[in-house]
Amino acid sequence: MACTCVVGLQWGDEAKGKIVDLLTDQHDIVVRFNGGANAGHTVVQGGKTFKFSLLPTGVLKPHLRSVIANGVVVYPPRFLEEVNDLRATGVAVGDNLLLSDHAHVIFPYHLEEERLSEQGSGQAIGTTGRGIGPCYQDKVGRISGVRLGELLHPEHLRTRLRAIVPRKNQLLRALAPDARTFDPDVLCDEYLSHAERMRGHVTDTTRLLLQAHRNNKRILFEAAQGSLLDVDHGTYPYVTSSNSTPAGVWSGSGLPARHINRVVGVIKAYTTRVGRGPFPTELNDGKDGIGERIRQTGREYGTVTGRPRRCGWFDTVAVRYSAAVSGADELAVMLLDVLSVAKEIAICTGYQWRDRRLEAFPSDAFILEECRPVFETVPGWESDLTHCKRLSDLPAAARRYVDRLSQLLELPVSIISVGPDREQTILC
Ligand code: GDP
Ligand code: IMO
Ligand code: MG
Repeated sequence: MACTCVVGLQWGDEAKGKIVDLLTDQHDIVVRFNGGANAGHTVVQGGKTFKFSLLPTGVLKPHLRSVIANGVVVYPPRFLEEVNDLRATGVAVGDNLLLSDHAHVIFPYHLEEERLSEQGSGQAIGTTGRGIGPCYQDKVGRISGVRLGELLHPEHLRTRLRAIVPRKNQLLRALAPDARTFDPDVLCDEYLSHAERMRGHVTDTTRLLLQAHRNNKRILFEAAQGSLLDVDHGTYPYVTSSNSTPAGVWSGSGLPARHINRVVGVIKAYTTRVGRGPFPTELNDGKDGIGERIRQTGREYGTVTGRPRRCGWFDTVAVRYSAAVSGADELAVMLLDVLSVAKEIAICTGYQWRDRRLEAFPSDAFILEECRPVFETVPGWESDLTHCKRLSDLPAAARRYVDRLSQLLELPVSIISVGPDREQTILC
């Protein structure tokens, strides 16, 4: 049966939420398999905007099952808040939303550790401050990791937190003498009360997904972040702490990734990045420059943190690499309307590194930092695309731009998006 993965091929915020929402109708289950509340996925339907951080976008459709699988890291207060916010808008959330008992739990000491590391280490990554990195560290470190299933066993949880929290306090004080520290019993009581409210959602989602697949259910995997933020394949160390490519599906959900028969690679018609790290095509051309015009037109401010996103031209070297690593079968080209602000559009087709021309994406962030983009320039269209419904409605220059991206990336374009709303979509 059809299993699909929607994956971002840049540094996140490619408008994956919109594509997942468009594809939900063709699926029975929507699964988040990586990351946590560092994600910010936006869906606009009939003028109403929904933002999802930890919850799968599928939760908007109560008749579907939405799964937060084992590869996700969960901050219970955020989970409960997001469920409440959604209910307040009239969306029913009940046993359609499932949480893996294997998913790791984020505690306030993770947030504090991240805050101190980002502030005091001199090696900030520019994270979202949601405790993601420290929680994944504890997961692979094993000694201090706590899984959601453990929250359902009060005595066990208390014993574990009494062992873990004093060590965390020591670590926090070593990072900064005035660090916030925590009382294991207070934390335990707080988390037991969260657990009571989450209990109805917690289950073995791996078993559920394997069973669903056997029963021919159609499963949609919603990647968070972008492939270039993948901890193994991205621009390390300026990445997130999970596998945000479809590589994360197998480990992060328990469903063998060979069951995926469609990978939709989502790209912006240009590039953005939040946080630190190399970005060869970044436009630093001042407050009247094209970079700023793209930021204003595309409303390029972080969904989670509100930080201005760094903006630049499309980079085919980076995306050829990320599309290959992600096994993308097709492309969804998003925010094409935003490029209406440009008279001419540049496309990066290679890198100049010292005296060498690189065709391949370098492995090391410090080399990528030194790469200068080699551009080809194509004419812009300078007209509003937001009402275009069919390919033939697009100006010739816009069609040529999309065709050129497809040619350079050697992948077909199946969807073009010309505005945030579901309706502002062209199926090719
Ligand atoms: P995600 O994290 O990949 O789901 O993307 P975000 O939601 O963080 O950022 C994408 C932003 O672009 C959201 O505000 C969307 O509503 C908006 N958006 C999506 N598609 C389009 C489009 O085609 N044109 C414009 N102008 N905005 C879009
Ligand atoms: P969605 O799913 C864009 C970035 C952060 C930082 C780095 C590490 O909305 O595309 P983390 O908090 O994960 O430890 O931060 O990754 N980052 C994102 N950038 N979109 C996201 O998610 C991101 N999630 C994390 O800005 O550079
Ligand atoms: Mg986002």
